[in-house]
Amino acid sequence: MALNLKSIGEKAGPFIKEYAQKDTILYALGVGAGFSDLQYCYEKDLKVLPSFSIAAIFDILSEFAIKAEVNLAGILHGEQDLIFHDPVPPEGTITTNGQITNIYDKGKDKGALVIGKSETCHSNGQKIFTSICSLFCRLDGGFDGKKSPKTTFTFPQREPDFIVDDKPLLNQPLIYRLSGDIFPLHADPKFAKASGFEKPIMHGLCTHGFACRALISRLIPNEPEKARRMACRFSSTLYPGVPIKTLIWKTAEGEALWKVVNVEIDDVIIDNGIFEYGDIPKDEIRFDDRVAIITGAGAGLGRAYALELAKRGAKVVVNDYGGSPDGIGDGSSSPAQIVVDQIKKAGGEAVANYDNVASPEGGKNIVKTALDAFGTVDILINNAGILRDKSFVNMEPGYWQAVIGVHLSGAYNVTRPAFKIMKEKEYGRIVMTTSAAGLYGNFGQTNYSAAKLAIVGLMNTLKLEGKKYNIKINTVAPFAASRLTEGIMPPEIFEKSKPEFVVPMTLYLCSERCPVTGNIYNAGLGFFNRAAIFTGPSAVVGRKDDIPDADAISAKIKQISNLKNAREYFNLNDQVMDLLSSLESPPEDTPQGDDEDTGSRFGSPTSVFEAMPDSFKADAAAGLDVVFQYIITGEGGGDWFCAVKDSECTIKSAMHDKPTCTLKMDSGNFLAMMNGKLTPMQAYSSGKLVIEGDIMKSQLIEKLFRL
Ligand code: NAI
Repeated sequence: MALNLKSIGEKAGPFIKEYAQKDTILYALGVGAGFSDLQYCYEKDLKVLPSFSIAAIFDILSEFAIKAEVNLAGILHGEQDLIFHDPVPPEGTITTNGQITNIYDKGKDKGALVIGKSETCHSNGQKIFTSICSLFCRLDGGFDGKKSPKTTFTFPQREPDFIVDDKPLLNQPLIYRLSGDIFPLHADPKFAKASGFEKPIMHGLCTHGFACRALISRLIPNEPEKARRMACRFSSTLYPGVPIKTLIWKTAEGEALWKVVNVEIDDVIIDNGIFEYGDIPKDEIRFDDRVAIITGAGAGLGRAYALELAKRGAKVVVNDYGGSPDGIGDGSSSPAQIVVDQIKKAGGEAVANYDNVASPEGGKNIVKTALDAFGTVDILINNAGILRDKSFVNMEPGYWQAVIGVHLSGAYNVTRPAFKIMKEKEYGRIVMTTSAAGLYGNFGQTNYSAAKLAIVGLMNTLKLEGKKYNIKINTVAPFAASRLTEGIMPPEIFEKSKPEFVVPMTLYLCSERCPVTGNIYNAGLGFFNRAAIFTGPSAVVGRKDDIPDADAISAKIKQISNLKNAREYFNLNDQVMDLLSSLESPPEDTPQGDDEDTGSRFGSPTSVFEAMPDSFKADAAAGLDVVFQYIITGEGGGDWFCAVKDSECTIKSAMHDKPTCTLKMDSGNFLAMMNGKLTPMQAYSSGKLVIEGDIMKSQLIEKLFRL
């Protein structure tokens, strides 16, 4: 079967991995670290070996292979390039996104190369490393494809500057595999023999980790955070227990070449090594070439946002109507103009706008100012605000309308024309401003509380409409000294509550790096936390024809009000789905702690095969004539085959006499795979899935069924 050339450019990921200190320590032990380099093995002042990065994203390599439809029986890790942008933290959650960038043909019987590139970011949005890997596909060459570009690589004709001796343990692969690469070739003697080896072999990436330790120990001792790039080619296999040496040549300031040699037979195991090191330039949040609109930026928080955005390279539209704190009376151009002058004086770019956000024309004109001056808009901070406090009975319609008009309609009036542009350019960052008064309530502020929480509702839906276009919308609930809070906050708190404390959160949410959308953050005085709407597990009171009455509610109010195991929903559908599934299986019937399994679609192998005909993609099956035989052992197991011919699919609970390929699995692993908790590649490489017959054809299953 030919490689899938259409996979070039196809996105892979996101792959999200949560890891703890224990994982980085286990990796370090797996690549031979110990008391000699305790910094990688002991939680006190723990540092992470940079090569841990590739072990942490192993899944994406499998995904590249699956997307390219590689013959898995002939796949080898060819080359690996890692570029470090920031030290790998000892724990956290990382997200990896990538794509296949090229597929090269080395010729018939010579194999093919699949090149995949990925970027990995920490959950704080910080890019940590880039990986470029090449998968050498021994059995896939000769498809008349593009030839791989020729590269030359020469080591200096002199003795290495450093030679680092090491000796992996006889049991080394058994430790290393616990970091994720559980392919049986490195643990199972029978599997190794069947693959043509005397016994299980070392993982190439395990030897790579040994090399990484060696390079750091000689070039940047105790400072793994200074590794900037590590590239190499895997050229030969190694048995555990065989001594190795890493040869290192310093070639320039911050640059070295290296290779790893099997000392017993003088065979190069890892070749063409490049190592770059030195201080990684600080990757600070910048807004160069970004255009930002900030409403109400003539004073208080808005002014602080405008100054910092401009300082970090943004072109800023400083909007301010320039009215009084209650919005009564005429506006003035001077607050906005003063801020613009200040930005320009400091070398930044800014333009003033004096429109009132409360009118649709004002909103349009603010966005037009950005277009006229800078050609686009990338960032919008809806910040303008007034107060007209009164206890509710005294809250005359004029007070009500004025506050709703500036805060809620103001956010609508400016966001709508800006959103249109962001949608067209498929990029946007919007920050709304709410208040603790809206989130939690405050006496005398019904108008303000209503407007401020309505803004959260606006965000909740807009985040869904913007998601596809890379428009991220979040909300800040600030706490800061300004003319609105003067006289309300105790003087000593007012003194300390500089608006600058709120600025970093708002700027982060405006940045390209911002990974979240639809979140609310409290920010002030150096305290930051997230506020969210959580929903308790349901209590079903009455079902089908049995409509409950108020007394039935009264009897169950404690359970209905319970917030234990409450959940946060990203959208209405998620909540409705939960509600419907609660009706199917009321919570009192569900044992405690079972909620994690609510995402499992299939409860038995039979249910998978029953669902198969409905998920069959007839249009993907044109011209195919294949039979997939499943042998599922364990609870609920049995034999099923699935025959696909002439775009039709037949499923039977039986053995077929001529299957194209046979898939053997234990029912637990099978269900984990069908419920998306185990990828087919992981299952195959860990031996949980055994495929007999035409392995290549088995890869069609993912294409033919939408399971
Ligand atoms: P501020 O009064 O210093 O700044 C608000 C700015 O908005 C003023 O410069 C004002 O001229 C401008 N503005 C008012 N109405 C406008 C309109 N119709 N069109 C254009 N500009 C208009 O107040 P502060 O504290 O900086 O408030 C900023 C935002 O933060 C407001 O939305 C406020 O509700 C919110 N907020 C502030 C808190 C705080 O502790 N300071 C607490 C919670 C929310």
